[in-house]
Amino acid sequence: MSTNATVARGIGPRAAGLGHQIARSAILRAADSPRVNRLVSRHGMRLGARQFVPAEKLDEIVPIFRELNAQGARAVTGLFDDYALTPAQVAVHEHEYARQVARLADEGLDANVGLKLTHLGVYFDHELMFQSVARLLDQAGERGMRLRIDMEESAVVDATLDCYRRLRESGRDNVGVVLQSYLHRSSDDLNRLLPLGLNVRLVKGAYLEPAQIAFHSKAEIDASYVSLLERSLPHAELTAIATHDPVMIRAALSIIEREAITPDRFEFQMLYGIALAEQRRILAAGLPLRIAAPYGPTWFTYLMRRLAERPANLTFFVRGALNR
Ligand code: FDA
Repeated sequence: MSTNATVARGIGPRAAGLGHQIARSAILRAADSPRVNRLVSRHGMRLGARQFVPAEKLDEIVPIFRELNAQGARAVTGLFDDYALTPAQVAVHEHEYARQVARLADEGLDANVGLKLTHLGVYFDHELMFQSVARLLDQAGERGMRLRIDMEESAVVDATLDCYRRLRESGRDNVGVVLQSYLHRSSDDLNRLLPLGLNVRLVKGAYLEPAQIAFHSKAEIDASYVSLLERSLPHAELTAIATHDPVMIRAALSIIEREAITPDRFEFQMLYGIALAEQRRILAAGLPLRIAAPYGPTWFTYLMRRLAERPANLTFFVRGALNR
């Protein structure tokens, strides 16, 4: 599965102005172009991509996480790479995730790791994938670390939730999962998962999904997000509120206050370099915040997703080019 195909699916549907929609499709089309990929991969970092992709290697993540920790934020890393389609590719990804776990723990950082099951065999061998995730969780558990399984495109949601359920039923409790508010099914999924003792990150969803299975308007996606928050915050063991949307953040805060949810049962999560004013406000209020900064060879796809979410972000590239 090509990285670019992932980008093409990887833009969350949002009701937006026409100009925004046109810009977003233009970025999407550009993301599918091997020429743009080559160009951005070669020059993007110099022109400003570092604002969103601060590191390309694990070594570079360490000082960034140390600085985030010094500012009072927790951190989470992950991997940008193509899907694994052979056991050998799974082994390479598992090795890199294991390196992340060991390094973050060795450095004494308040940080953990998000796993993508497309890196670990979800498209060709669920047993191999389960064993790989279980080994990583056991290694993380020995270092007192919790891992989270990211949620990817709808084709792998069943396999992802089955894997989470099996891990919990096998007695592993240092694992979290993600639900996407744009999927119609997420409300039922939440109800089914809560009895397991749920650790969930709530997101709006970042992939292009058909209207048969996903909300496409911002109003519906937001309403679904708030409905998930209403049930997850009081009942899940931990709810990670992963959004940059000030309206969703306010909704979460009002539920937290109304239900007297203690800070060990929630945290806010945002992506590195995005909505910095919101990040500062959350930290200043003394609320738990985790910043996500993955790294890896295919950062181009992640960058294009962030640009398409907010085409105004393209201006930093233009500024970067003009300042040279
Ligand atoms: P939305 O896109 O509606 O934007 C609301 C407001 O937030 C905007 O008006 C703007 O102010 C600000 N904003 C949003 N994106 C911005 C950007 N790129 N640049 C600048 N400002 C921006 N998805 C998924 O499908 N599976 C997953 O596992 C994860 N994991 C994940 C982890 C973490 C820590 C985060 C923060 C997000 C994810 N996501 C994800 C991505 C998520 O689904 C979603 O695509 C993005 O968070 C953008 O949606 P928002 O909730 O921020 O709102």
